[in-house]
Amino acid sequence: MTNINSYDFAGKKAIVRVDFNVPLQDGKITDDTRIRGAVPTLKLILEKGGALIIMSHMGKPKGKKKPELSLGQIKEAVAAALGVAEVKFAPDCADASEAAAALKPGEVLLLENLRYYPEEEGKPVGIDKEDPAYDEAKKAMKASQKEFAKKLASYADCYVMDAFGTAHRKHASTAVIADYFAEGDKMLGLLMEKEVNAVDAVLNNIQRPFVAVMGGSKVSSKIGIIENLLGKVDKLILCGGMTYTFSKAHGGEIGTSIVELDKLDVALGVEELAKKNGVELVLAEDATITNGLDFGTMTVKEGAEVKVAPANAIPEGFEGVDAGPKAQAAFAAALAGAKTILWNGPAGVFECDAFTAGSRAIGEAIAKATAEGAFSLIGGGDSVACVNKFGLADQVSYISTGGGALLEAIEGKVLPGVAAIKGE
Ligand code: 3PG
Repeated sequence: MTNINSYDFAGKKAIVRVDFNVPLQDGKITDDTRIRGAVPTLKLILEKGGALIIMSHMGKPKGKKKPELSLGQIKEAVAAALGVAEVKFAPDCADASEAAAALKPGEVLLLENLRYYPEEEGKPVGIDKEDPAYDEAKKAMKASQKEFAKKLASYADCYVMDAFGTAHRKHASTAVIADYFAEGDKMLGLLMEKEVNAVDAVLNNIQRPFVAVMGGSKVSSKIGIIENLLGKVDKLILCGGMTYTFSKAHGGEIGTSIVELDKLDVALGVEELAKKNGVELVLAEDATITNGLDFGTMTVKEGAEVKVAPANAIPEGFEGVDAGPKAQAAFAAALAGAKTILWNGPAGVFECDAFTAGSRAIGEAIAKATAEGAFSLIGGGDSVACVNKFGLADQVSYISTGGGALLEAIEGKVLPGVAAIKGE
């Protein structure tokens, strides 16, 4: 496999797939972890005398040109991160031949959101899977996906895959495009290497005790990784919205808390598997609850109540929005002395300043364990936003730019973005 460090970029145009799917609020970037993550690769190419064609998706426009998901909004931020005076912008990623051809060494061109074209994802649009014509539509879409990937490839002399956050997708720009470059002209970027090594430290070089913290609202979206982790960890903290599915599974009262009523058996199965594997499962005993969280503004409505209740005795009209004080102490105790830590998903609605305590307790306990020698890996947009919000980013070992990609890598799956380069 070609190594980016030894590749001669001088006088060449490199098309680099990055994951600049950064969170935006009113057009402003609220967390630039992913941009910073790609900088070493992008700078390396410029320093070696190459020209850069940067491509990414943003959000899920589903094949439509949605201005609020335009990458034009982050052009200046990319220029600032790279320390260049200008980043040129191609407003149509599939019609950028001239702009690419005009690029000189040291210059940078950013392509518009790849997902403005359905060919990027390669799924047929406007047709149901049940439709008898679906298979034909899928075949046709796969053919146009190849054409789209070929077009992107035609802009450059070499291809660099550095979008770890999207490496679990077999899309035109993350995988298919690699077919249009010779073996010696396609490679993984520096971020991919770092991310893969961090996953390796968690998967293949486990120092014990290994404690994982999984949060977030749904047990269903995390069940694969939870089951997988139950074969590896010593302790598993489950927190966030999924807490209430566990409470409900045991007949608890959860008020209006988020719950997956069709996943109660899944929750019980997780508990059983933990017992069988000798894993200590830590669930929130209590919760901070409210009867007035405004999810639009992320504030507590005037006159609304905020109090603490057992996680299985939440009164009618109230919902659990954060881990309570007993749960916070239990989480911190479970993390104390850990030597390997994985954190994915917050413990509460941390976006609301009133409900950060649970996630903060986890972040601080992880920082403490890290200072005492643990290797800590934080992944998933929300947990990363938490460590950034609490000023703990430099007190953990590694912050991943991947959410779904990180979880799939930790499940031991081969990521299509990696396979496309390695030829697996
Ligand atoms: C992410 O935010 O996890 C990545 O950018 C991938 O986005 P996707 O889940 O929309 O493919």
